[in-house]
Amino acid sequence: MSKLTESPAWRALAEHQRHIEPLQMRDLFAADHGRAKRYSLECGAIYLDYSRHRITDDTLRLLFALARQANTSAWIERMFSGEHVNNSENRAALHVALRADQERFPAAGSNGTPDVMPMVRAARARAYALADTLRGGSIRGATGKPLCHIVNLGVGGSDLGPRLLSRAMRRQSDSSLTLRFAANADPADLDAALTGLDPERTLFIIASKTFTTVETLSNASRARAWLAASLGDAPELSTHFAAVTADEAKAHGWGVPAERIFPMWDWVGGRFSMWSSVGLAAVIAAGPAHFDNLLAGARAMDVHFREAPLERNMPVILALLSVWYSAFFRTQTHALLPYLEDLREFPAWAQQLHMESNGKGVDRDGQPVDYPTSPVIWGSSGTPSQHSFHQLLHQGTRLVPTDFIVPRSSDGDAATQHLLVVNALAQGSALMTGAAAAEPYRVLPGNRPSSTLLIDKLEPHALGQLLALYEHKVVAEAALLNLNPFDQCGVEFGKSVAQSIERGQQTEQLDASTQSLLSRIEPWRH
Ligand code: F6P
Repeated sequence: MSKLTESPAWRALAEHQRHIEPLQMRDLFAADHGRAKRYSLECGAIYLDYSRHRITDDTLRLLFALARQANTSAWIERMFSGEHVNNSENRAALHVALRADQERFPAAGSNGTPDVMPMVRAARARAYALADTLRGGSIRGATGKPLCHIVNLGVGGSDLGPRLLSRAMRRQSDSSLTLRFAANADPADLDAALTGLDPERTLFIIASKTFTTVETLSNASRARAWLAASLGDAPELSTHFAAVTADEAKAHGWGVPAERIFPMWDWVGGRFSMWSSVGLAAVIAAGPAHFDNLLAGARAMDVHFREAPLERNMPVILALLSVWYSAFFRTQTHALLPYLEDLREFPAWAQQLHMESNGKGVDRDGQPVDYPTSPVIWGSSGTPSQHSFHQLLHQGTRLVPTDFIVPRSSDGDAATQHLLVVNALAQGSALMTGAAAAEPYRVLPGNRPSSTLLIDKLEPHALGQLLALYEHKVVAEAALLNLNPFDQCGVEFGKSVAQSIERGQQTEQLDASTQSLLSRIEPWRH
């Protein structure tokens, strides 16, 4: 048994869960008319209602005791102070510096981590300058035409973040620019992204922290061939490329002009990097001013995370609720349902954020864990989700804690927004209250927990707050579970096996299933 599951706070919660298990939320509401108000919290543009959860005041007291036992506040401070909280790679995790506006980050005197603000500011200024120049029509391709078709080539954190930002900032974006994304090694992805684009006007952003990711380099080569087929293979083709990477030498060696290479750093994890030049596609589309608002929103949530007491700390509360169900109700998954179509990329971004950060089996001290770590994160935009998987949420045999993200107001027409709100709130209510019926197959058991996050209209400042909220939730959850959320050792082995298969090496050392399958697939068929 690990120290954590044997700890006083953990054992108290395990005992308390047995008391909570049989309670019905609808009875808790009936007995306490102030419940909804008491179990809610506002931070800037976000109002969190966490009353539809299997919790009482005692539950929260015990959960906050777990947070204190885990020194959660100290971990938060360590991250902001530039300590090497990424202990397996001996690195700091300073994605919060990307949106800081203070003179020095980390603050003066913080355990020797150098001030990163000069390089952050310089990189941001260069990215903004490129965006302004391109938006002004002054960046021209090999044939002299202004570049206005932007294609981001990246995967994981080099795709999901910029893709999410570009869609979520659609209404602030310059509609004369076309933005496309290609992530998959499958040529169909890039082919679809290039459909209808003009090679003379297309800029490719090669986004890769390592500049070694096979999918991205394959797509970059195919992109160059697509240009060459139309424009001829001339040195001037390099004007159709930019790169965002931590390995500038590799990007330059590939053929990206030095002035078009934007830095990333090893103290920012890929899944936390969209606030840097990794977000270049969104900076170009929406413009520097709106991107600055996005950064300001994230910065506001940073202040809240760092300064709010645990009991009024939104990321900490979301993290505690996640652990409460995952570890003590043994739920397996957690659903994210943004009732905003411009947040349709949010679940996919949140999947990498949560599951690449906390999908671990060993704690930060290298000890195997004997408790659940990250739940499986999934979801999609509402209302279509209601016509897809809500049946399972309402009547299935599994408890699936759910986050509803709901617009409190919108730029669209009121009727449309009203429809979204009505549906989202109705779903959360029905999940909690359930419904009696004469026929068994019509009975909804209810008592199914959800959080509801009301967000002011989806403008960049509110978007920045929302995304930073979930980044910090993941970091807080790692503190509670004694995990390092900033490495991803589990994804490396699969890549090396793929490389050895591709090179035809040691196939006899592969498992029999892989050998059998390979023998039936060209070009391995013998
Ligand atoms: O999935 C592993 C991973 O390293 C992610 O952490 C990262 O976001 C993605 O691959 C892409 O890596 P890169 O930006 O180096 O191409």
